[in-house]
Amino acid sequence: MQSFSNKSLKEHNTFGIDVKAKTFISITTVEELKAVLKKQYASEVFILGGGSNMLLTRDINKTVLHINLKGKEIVNETEEEVYVKAMAGETWHEFVLYCISRNFGGLENLSLIPGNVGTTPIQNIGAYGVEIKDTFESCTALNVQTLELQEFSLFDCEFGYRDSVFKNALKGQYIITSVTFRLTKKNHRLNTSYGPIEQHLAEKGVQEPQIKDISDAVISIRQSKLPDPKELGNSGSFFKNPVISMREFEELQENYPELPGYKISEDEIKVPAGWLIDKAGLKGFRKGDAGVHTKQALVLVNYGNATGQDILNLSTHIQEEIYRLFRIRLQPEVNIL
Ligand code: EPU
Repeated sequence: MQSFSNKSLKEHNTFGIDVKAKTFISITTVEELKAVLKKQYASEVFILGGGSNMLLTRDINKTVLHINLKGKEIVNETEEEVYVKAMAGETWHEFVLYCISRNFGGLENLSLIPGNVGTTPIQNIGAYGVEIKDTFESCTALNVQTLELQEFSLFDCEFGYRDSVFKNALKGQYIITSVTFRLTKKNHRLNTSYGPIEQHLAEKGVQEPQIKDISDAVISIRQSKLPDPKELGNSGSFFKNPVISMREFEELQENYPELPGYKISEDEIKVPAGWLIDKAGLKGFRKGDAGVHTKQALVLVNYGNATGQDILNLSTHIQEEIYRLFRIRLQPEVNIL
């Protein structure tokens, strides 16, 4: 267990924001985690995973626990399926590639998403028609009060669109230590419904796609639109795609007939925030080192030395513009701290 004082978190958040942690401890075993929490109140610690879904706006005057638990193993298998458990500190994309190389299907559409395994259930990560909940079997989490490990089933997690019980009723009460996925060994259920995936496969002349082909397509699509955090600080989609009523949607379509929407119930429809921001003329907008990505308007970027507050100010400006033009309130998808 390594401990540092006054450590910069620039390398530990994908936005590349330079704030400091009063104390920083890298946790490599569950025992270490328990030992630290025995000595400190849960309210005095701050849990850090891959730092891929957060905007840090100030120094953290707490003990930052960097969850660096590593390891993956097959915990069960049948003819058709395999249950693979990964510790929370495993890099998500490396885990996806590990599964693909063994022909374990189910995670291929979620290739190249930044972050660590342990944070994937918190916001039920999703892309190209697939969410973590589709292959999630269970996760183990440490109760920060009782210091007991507890198992959460799919049902317990209450997954929703970029949402789970860990963001709501149980917020701050558990630290996820491992996640188990139920993956296919054969008869993979491929999801190629997302237009650009189909297009990519067609261009490559792939007739009978394997999971690796889907992963390659996803990687290529993401690389063409989404900035690599190592090159340009960002946190993926900054806002959630808002859900509006059918009536509001139809009213908006009078002025914007080309407005896209994905019906989610009889009277509700999800509209792409990226489209709204783009339409508002804000794609590529830049103020100092805080900007709206030039290829995907839903992504805010740090051109180098933006502070968390600069990014936050930009996001407020976007929210105001979108409300002024469309009467829609955008909600951040990233956690703002
Ligand atoms: N669009 C624009 N201009 C833009 C961006 C998007 O007009 O600048 C339009 C696109 O043409 C398309 C629609 O908006 O009609 C949707 O765009 P896209 O397919 O790129 O997806 P998204 O809704 O912007 C969501 C997820 C992404 C995920 C993609 C693909 C959310 C908040 N974001 O983005 O997730 O990769 O779908 O499934 O749901 C993330 O969460 O960090 C993330 C990147």
